[in-house]
Amino acid sequence: MQYKRYTVTSALPYANGPIHIGHLAGVYVPADIYVRYLRLIGEDVVFIGGSDEHGVPITIKARQLGVTPQEIVDKYHNIIKQSFAEFGVSFDIYSRTSNKVHHETADEFFRKLYYKGDFIEKLSMQYYDEENKQYLADRYITGTCPHCSNEKAYGDQCEKCGTTLNATDLINPRSAISGNAPVLKETKHWFLPLENYEEFLKEWILVGHKDDWKTNVYGQCKSWLDQGLQPRAVTRDLDWGVKLPSEIEGSEGKVLYVWFDAPIGYISATKELTSDWEKYWKDKETKLVHFIGKDNIVFHCIIFPAMLKAEGSFILPDNVPANEFMNLEGDKISTSRNWAVWLHEYLLDFPNKQDELRYVLCANAPETKDNDFTWKDYQAKNNNELLAIFGNFVNRSMVLTHKYFEGIVPALGELNDADKVTIEEINLFPSRIAKSVEAYRFREAINEMMNLARLGNKYLTENEPWKVFKTDENRVKTVLNISVQICANLAVVCEPFLPFTATKLANMLNFSLPKWNEAGTIKLLAENHLLGQAAFLFQRIEDIEIEQQVQKLLDTKKANDAANVIINPAKQNIEYDDFAKMDIRTATIIAAEKVAKTKKLLKLTVDTGIDKRTIVSGIAEHYDAENIIGQRVSILINLSPKNLKGIDSQGMILMAENHDGKLCFVAPTEEVKNGSEVK
Ligand code: MF3
Ligand code: ZN
Repeated sequence: MQYKRYTVTSALPYANGPIHIGHLAGVYVPADIYVRYLRLIGEDVVFIGGSDEHGVPITIKARQLGVTPQEIVDKYHNIIKQSFAEFGVSFDIYSRTSNKVHHETADEFFRKLYYKGDFIEKLSMQYYDEENKQYLADRYITGTCPHCSNEKAYGDQCEKCGTTLNATDLINPRSAISGNAPVLKETKHWFLPLENYEEFLKEWILVGHKDDWKTNVYGQCKSWLDQGLQPRAVTRDLDWGVKLPSEIEGSEGKVLYVWFDAPIGYISATKELTSDWEKYWKDKETKLVHFIGKDNIVFHCIIFPAMLKAEGSFILPDNVPANEFMNLEGDKISTSRNWAVWLHEYLLDFPNKQDELRYVLCANAPETKDNDFTWKDYQAKNNNELLAIFGNFVNRSMVLTHKYFEGIVPALGELNDADKVTIEEINLFPSRIAKSVEAYRFREAINEMMNLARLGNKYLTENEPWKVFKTDENRVKTVLNISVQICANLAVVCEPFLPFTATKLANMLNFSLPKWNEAGTIKLLAENHLLGQAAFLFQRIEDIEIEQQVQKLLDTKKANDAANVIINPAKQNIEYDDFAKMDIRTATIIAAEKVAKTKKLLKLTVDTGIDKRTIVSGIAEHYDAENIIGQRVSILINLSPKNLKGIDSQGMILMAENHDGKLCFVAPTEEVKNGSEVK
């Protein structure tokens, strides 16, 4: 089917943290490539984004930091919006769900369904925190997952095994606010009876989109539909969100479920963007595409379409090209564990290197399975691909044209067979790349784009203009003409992927980017056209820059480990007499040496106040012998002597062991005589 226009949405990120590379690789880089491509082929397209500012993730974050939800969303909305803009994500609008238009739009949507009688009203028992006088929606309940025993599962989902849960499924449920065991209390909610839409959804997805939806998306939908759909609550007991219409009985203290209002945010943002918004949402000739991550599939393929269907006047998505997850250095990205490369920090650490990150995230996009981002790979892709292939080709073409022809595009002479083959190949690129982009295969597309640079490199290398110039200047004219035409073609076809590079390259070539369908020829730059100055498109990324990033992650790991220390529970009680049997004294180390052929052992001589004795202690990995002479210590002096590596050890030095295994002395903090009793 031919479409007249496109509405492209990208998942609205929760405004409870900044954007990280997982968001970018999964959603925003592919969406932006798709949209930029559509604009280049001259399509009418709106690209919608915005912050998802409701829901429990926001209120929990606010509570943790002791501020209001509004303060949280203001802070993160601004960080997110600015980092997207700097990164070149070309939204037509980046809106937010706390604004007025959105509240009105969501309210209107809910009312329409409510008054048509599309919801069912149900009383149910819900967990309630008696201390805080609050119902505990979704993540306000934590407990043990009944499937995988994860002790930190949430009331709506277990992040460890990915199962969707009901709060009442959790073993040993706790309030995330007080930590108390919650009680069950009755409450009224409104449900969308999804089972009424099951037949329609089966027909639409399982039959209608069998061939054009990605297998990961289709598979998830099929498994939901095969299990049979159930009524889904669309309201919550919460004081943050879109309030229920006040005329409805029992609406007090209730808001729309965040997953009911957030996707409506796409519509509100379009309204905010243009008074002509209806054609982007209600005309069958508009192609609606949702870019999302895999955790959003059910909401965009089942629940939101059921809502749209119920409402009746909206179009349904033509495709939902969801990606899998991008991991970071082998570990799942996590906002709460700070395990991420944050976009706003990347932009500070690597100024003007947006395209370098876009390239790596697209070339490695988790399109069919989870993938891993590593800094080593980032460096390699920059140095060995962007710089060595793309940058190098453009640089050689520019420099040589300046060197031999003062930067003026030379005339094309007679073409040999190799030229003709190259020209034919150039001709194939735009449509080949287009085909991949239109099929949402962005890795394939970006690789094809690089193949054009590879073609250029090969052409230059095989024709060796730097050698031929002495004998055949005319031949060099042809070779360099074709080379700079390839550069111009690259500027066009790289734009969706590497927009900053496209602009730089167009400036270098001193031309303005033509539309996509003008590419594929060697007529982009006229004979005698004056090129701009040659400049480097990419720079080498040095080991030290990568090491700094890796170190940053190691520091995070360390901080997380420290925060997650499990303090062993107390041992069983003993009587004072048991304790009194131990004779612990203060003492001073007066000599120390490494025990030969061991890693861990030091032979110490200590002054116990009673005698000077030998103690063998397993601290050599923590202390050098020469540094602990004079160290005050506490010793258990009546421990039966033990022979260690041929040395009689007479007692034990008391050490505290840190969570990371580090040992430190337990010593008196003030002056006391050696031999003082510790009791
Ligand atoms: N905030 C959600 C998330 O980060 C995505 C919302 S997408 C929308 O998972 F459709 F609801 F807007
Ligand atoms: Zn689980």
